[in-house]
Amino acid sequence: MGEVISEGDDVLIYLSGDKRWLITVKADKRIHTHAGYIECSSILGKRYGDAVKTNLGRTFWLLKPTIEDYVLKCERKTQVVYPKDMGLIVAKTGLASGSIVVEAGTGSGALTMFLANIVKPNGHVYSIEVKEEFLDVARRNLKRSRLLDYVTLSLGDASQGFGVSEADAAILDVGDPWRFVEAAWRALKGSGKIVSISPTMNQVEKTCEAMFRVGFADVECVEVLVRGLQVKTGATRPATRMVGHTAYITFARKVLGGEKTLKEGVAESMDVVSDEEG
Ligand SMILES: C[S@@+](CC[C@H](N)C(=O)[O-])C[C@H]1O[C@@H](n2cnc3c(N)ncnc32)[C@H](O)[C@@H]1O
Repeated sequence: MGEVISEGDDVLIYLSGDKRWLITVKADKRIHTHAGYIECSSILGKRYGDAVKTNLGRTFWLLKPTIEDYVLKCERKTQVVYPKDMGLIVAKTGLASGSIVVEAGTGSGALTMFLANIVKPNGHVYSIEVKEEFLDVARRNLKRSRLLDYVTLSLGDASQGFGVSEADAAILDVGDPWRFVEAAWRALKGSGKIVSISPTMNQVEKTCEAMFRVGFADVECVEVLVRGLQVKTGATRPATRMVGHTAYITFARKVLGGEKTLKEGVAESMDVVSDEEG
């Protein structure tokens, strides 16, 4: 019949479209919205999927928050990675429960939350951020989404190293990712995945060059475009507005072997930074 909502549980109270609030249920709390208020006490004992009415008689649905809800509702002090990009990162890296991930920089921790949710309960995310104020924001977001146990947050310059070896994936979301490629190589196990997230093409070029030079193969760069549909009987069509650009995402896999092998490999593959055609 579904999970019963208790004191301290998180609930997404949903009216329509972007009219949605992520709340933690506390018996003595009142949630104010433009459509009236809801007494939290009236939510207790209901199930996820049930409805609740405001004092003005408007119906809200009580939904169980997903990781996307936590990401979209998180406190933001930096640019954050969008869920559309996060999805592809997980598909391409093959991350799963038990995986070990290193990340530079943590920023607001939006991507960290998503990664922790994938690798929990036996995996771990080691995330390094150079600015303490952002680490505090990330810590709050991870606590709010109940994922802090699966993450180690550190203050420092990740280009100097991650302090981890044999990681399954290294994620770079910094302005100058090419400076972090060597540290990522050292942190990864053979064939481990590196992912770099950058808004501009010149960052991509420099990062791909560094990847080939340091020891990565199967380098691929993509952009994810998501267009919503307006669904209306007899008039369904693409939405007028969409997010035009967030980031280019570069993926590659760590390769081993001596300098000579690497040089030969680079010569063969340098001009094959491609899309999904092949
Ligand atoms: C775009 S934000 C990351 C956003 C994050 N991925 C998210 O989804 O919330 C980039 C972050 O990298 C951090 N950064 C820049 N240089 C760094 C370095 N050398 N070591 C660690 N973090 C660094 C910045 O302070 C900033 O917080």
